[in-house]
Amino acid sequence: MIVAVTGGTGFLGRAVVQALLERGEQVRCLVRRGSSAPDGVQVVPGDLADAAALRALVAGADAVLHLAALMGSRDERALQAVNVHGTRAVLAAAKAAGVGRFVLVSSVAAGRPDHGAYSRSKADAEAVVRDGTVPWVIVRPPVLIGPGSQVERTLKNLGRLPLVPVISGGAPLRPVQVQDAARACVEAARAPDAAGIWTLAGPEDLSFLTLSRRTLQGLGSRARTVPLPGRLALLIAGVAERVLPAPPLTVEGVRAVLAGSPPGGRA
Ligand SMILES: NC(=O)c1ccc[n+]([C@@H]2O[C@H](COP(=O)([O-])OP(=O)(O)OC[C@H]3O[C@@H](n4cnc5c(N)ncnc54)[C@H](OP(=O)(O)O)[C@@H]3O)[C@@H](O)[C@H]2O)c1
Repeated sequence: MIVAVTGGTGFLGRAVVQALLERGEQVRCLVRRGSSAPDGVQVVPGDLADAAALRALVAGADAVLHLAALMGSRDERALQAVNVHGTRAVLAAAKAAGVGRFVLVSSVAAGRPDHGAYSRSKADAEAVVRDGTVPWVIVRPPVLIGPGSQVERTLKNLGRLPLVPVISGGAPLRPVQVQDAARACVEAARAPDAAGIWTLAGPEDLSFLTLSRRTLQGLGSRARTVPLPGRLALLIAGVAERVLPAPPLTVEGVRAVLAGSPPGGRA
């Protein structure tokens, strides 16, 4: 089977590519300039705005795994361009090439479009795929963990401080190991009867505070965590967004932490 992958150079994408190769699939990846391709794949240079590259990416493919997305941004226009128009462009190419399965890697954030521009863009991307004619599976991961995760990268720097403020309270998160999420993505692309929306959930109901403490411990940090109540975190994030170009805390991020993650399931 030939599987075309976008976002194969990212945190989840590398694990997905690895899992596909382990199953003996032929993997073709869209790779942006300056990004290093995973080993063992056929590389198609280009990005989501490059229609010719997308045609080359999906030509003869049995399935498309679309993971590429802009994360950690509050720029509505950029989020819509990459996450929504980008998805539309990959889907159009897949349809023209007669691809049999389109897997969109979305997020649990798509279930809460009122939380902010990223969540909205993921919900809008899902609508593009659901309204299309290519058979689809939408995979919604919660927060992903594992070496190199976003949580780990954030806490790596903060963990050098003696005290690290961490959002406390809120609904439990059900973090998923990146390898497990990758396996689900691969199943979504390969299983003959795969369809619908798959919400992923890990085995543990963890608070963000516990997850952060564990991550700091794993990083060998001796920093002590200081619980930051949700309302205060929202207030600080609101101010930070107004005065800082790249605030360490965003309102959408705090909302996501407080909302937690839904139970897993397929619908
Ligand atoms: N990480 C999580 O906790 C999490 C949770 C829920 C859902 N998700 C979803 O999972 C997917 C993968 O996330 P991730 O954590 O692996 O993100 P990541 O590490 O930031 O990787 C993003 C990938 O998208 C590519 N990309 C971004 N903009 C692009 C563009 N305009 N054209 C082509 N490629 C582009 C990046 O390429 P470069 O290497 O060139 O930058 C990279 O391969 C995303 O759809 C995300 O929304 C992630």
